Amino acid sequence: MSTNEKRQAGEAAIRYVEDGAIVGVGTGSTVAYFIDALADLKDRIQGAVSSSEQSTAHLKRVGIPVLDLNSTGSLSLYIDGADECDPHKRLIKGGGAALTREKIIAEASDKFVCIIDSSKLVNVLGKFPLPIEVIPMARSLVGREIVKRGGNPVWRDGVVTDNGNWVIDVHGWQITDPVGLENDLNQIPGIVTVGLFARRAANVVLVGDKVL
Ligand code: A5P
Repeated sequence: MSTNEKRQAGEAAIRYVEDGAIVGVGTGSTVAYFIDALADLKDRIQGAVSSSEQSTAHLKRVGIPVLDLNSTGSLSLYIDGADECDPHKRLIKGGGAALTREKIIAEASDKFVCIIDSSKLVNVLGKFPLPIEVIPMARSLVGREIVKRGGNPVWRDGVVTDNGNWVIDVHGWQITDPVGLENDLNQIPGIVTVGLFARRAANVVLVGDKVL
């Protein structure tokens, strides 16, 4: 993990921000650098749509208006980090438990620019345990379904998401068909969001200040 590359990526993402934009903003330590850089442009943008209470607090602290996605309509740009990224720009996200709002904003955005350091690059997704947000009463059911599929589910005990749900981290999967797995898991009742961003992958990946 390179803090320097995270800072470079967060600052490099500013070049995608156009005057008058409403910017979708993800969550995490890399995004924190982006928010700090965005603060310098705050008079040139309309505001941001935030993916977490953590990012909302940061945006407000630096004076960037936080807008409601239901009022803004679709967005031109979403900037967010990731926990893993494969050569097709498919991602694992949710290490910070913000995956549901992140996935909603990614879906609502024309361009998703993912900002990472080089430690996040992998050939096959799955070394980083796959986060899944679940409705609390479905935790055991979802766990059993994951075991049937060869995964090892571990409850992130004590973590409650911004939506009042729980997170299961799945260890032991080599995800060779991310779109297929995402579609399959999306059918299980009680799963709110799978931390695979494969159906809607990133459009651009910045590794430090370099475009992948
Ligand atoms: C938040 O839930 C995650 O999806 C983050 O985007 C991811 O964990 C990246 O975080 P860092 O930028 O802190 O590595």
